[in-house]
Amino acid sequence: MSKILVTGGCGYIGGHTIVDLIANGFEVISVDDLSKGSLVMLGGVERVVGRPVKNYRVNLCNLDDTETIFIENPDIVGIVHFAAYKSVPESVQQPLRYFENNINSLVNILKCAKEYKVNHFVFSSSCSVYGNADKLPVDENAPLKEPESPYARTKQMGEAICRDFAKINPDFNVTLLRYFNPVGAHPTALIGELQEKPENLVPVITQTAIGKRREMQVFGTDYPTRDGSCVRDYIHVMDIANAHTKALQYTMSGDNETNCDVFNLGSGSGVTVLELINAFEKVSGEKLHYKLGPRRPGDVVEVYANNSKARCLLDWDIKYSLEDMMDTAWRWEQNMKREAARIKLN
Ligand code: WQD
Repeated sequence: MSKILVTGGCGYIGGHTIVDLIANGFEVISVDDLSKGSLVMLGGVERVVGRPVKNYRVNLCNLDDTETIFIENPDIVGIVHFAAYKSVPESVQQPLRYFENNINSLVNILKCAKEYKVNHFVFSSSCSVYGNADKLPVDENAPLKEPESPYARTKQMGEAICRDFAKINPDFNVTLLRYFNPVGAHPTALIGELQEKPENLVPVITQTAIGKRREMQVFGTDYPTRDGSCVRDYIHVMDIANAHTKALQYTMSGDNETNCDVFNLGSGSGVTVLELINAFEKVSGEKLHYKLGPRRPGDVVEVYANNSKARCLLDWDIKYSLEDMMDTAWRWEQNMKREAARIKLN
C-alpha cells in the first residue's frame, strides 16, 4: 500500500480525507501539532476506519522535528498538506502569526519532500484566492484578485511557492485544490466539524438548532442577489476528501500533463444564505431562530465554481446533495450532544 502523510490530519477536512484515502487502499500517517486539530477527531477517524492511525504531534515550523517523520517513514510516497491556520477574522487581527505559520510550515514540508524524494503533493487552497470574481461561475483561469484577508493571501502565496518549486523540480508533482465552502459530516456522524465557537454558517446553524446558541444572524439581506443574502458554493466534506484521493491517483498514474495543476472543488451551484437555512429547516424539521442583521465586512457577494476541470481530469464527481450536507451536519451536531451527555454521566 502506498503511504501518504496527511498534515493537519486531526482537523475537519484532514480527518475526512484520511477516511477516504484508507477506503481507497492507501496507508496513512498524520502530523498535527493539535494547536487547531483535535485527538477527538482522530479517535473518530479510527472508529470509522476500524484501525489505529498514527499522528506525529509536530509543529511543521520546526524543520528538525518535521524531518524525523520522513527519517522514520522512508516509504512516504505522497503528502496532502492541510496544516495551516484558517480563520479569516483571526488572520485580520494577527497577520504576522498567519504568515509565519502558514508559509514556514509549507516551506519546511517542501524541503522535506525534496530531501526525501516524495514526488506527489496536494496543497489545500481556497476559493478565497479569487476574491470578488468578475465572472461566475469562476474557473481556474480567473485572475486572482486582491485577497480579502491575510488568510486568503497565505493561500495565494502558498500556491505561488508550490508553482515556483515545481518549475525547478520536474519530477515533483503538485496539485492545488481550491475549496469552495466545505460543509457536512461523515455519514456515520462519528466525525464532523469540531469548533467551540464557529464563525462558518453551517455549524452556526446546527448549534442554534440544537440550542447551544440562542439565535443567529443572517449577515446582510440587501445584496444584489435573488433574495438579498450572499451566494456561496457549498460542497460536502466527503466530496472534498475524495478529490484529494483522486488528485494523488491522478499524478501517481502519470496521466497529468503538467507537474503543477490547479482545480476548483465546488458543487457548481450557488446557494443563498436564506436558501440554505430553508434547506436545513426542511431536512431537520427544526424551526431556526435567526434575525436579519447587517453585512459582515470582507464577505464577497457571490461566488460559485466551474468544477468541470476537476470532474473531467480527476474523474471526480459530486456524490452528496445540499440535503445530504444539512442532514449529516445536523446528525453530527446531535451526536456531539449525546456524547457530551454521556461523558457528563460517567
Ligand atoms: C458563508 C455565508 C456569511 C455566519 C469561509 C472562509 C473561506 C473558506 C470557506 C477555507 C456568508 C453568512 C455566516 C453567520 C451568516 N474557508 N453567514 N451568518 O466566509 O464564505 O468562507 O469558508 O478555505 O476562506 O472565509 O463562509 O460560512 O463564514 O459564510 O449570515 O452566522 O454565510 O455572511 O455570506 P465564507 P461562512
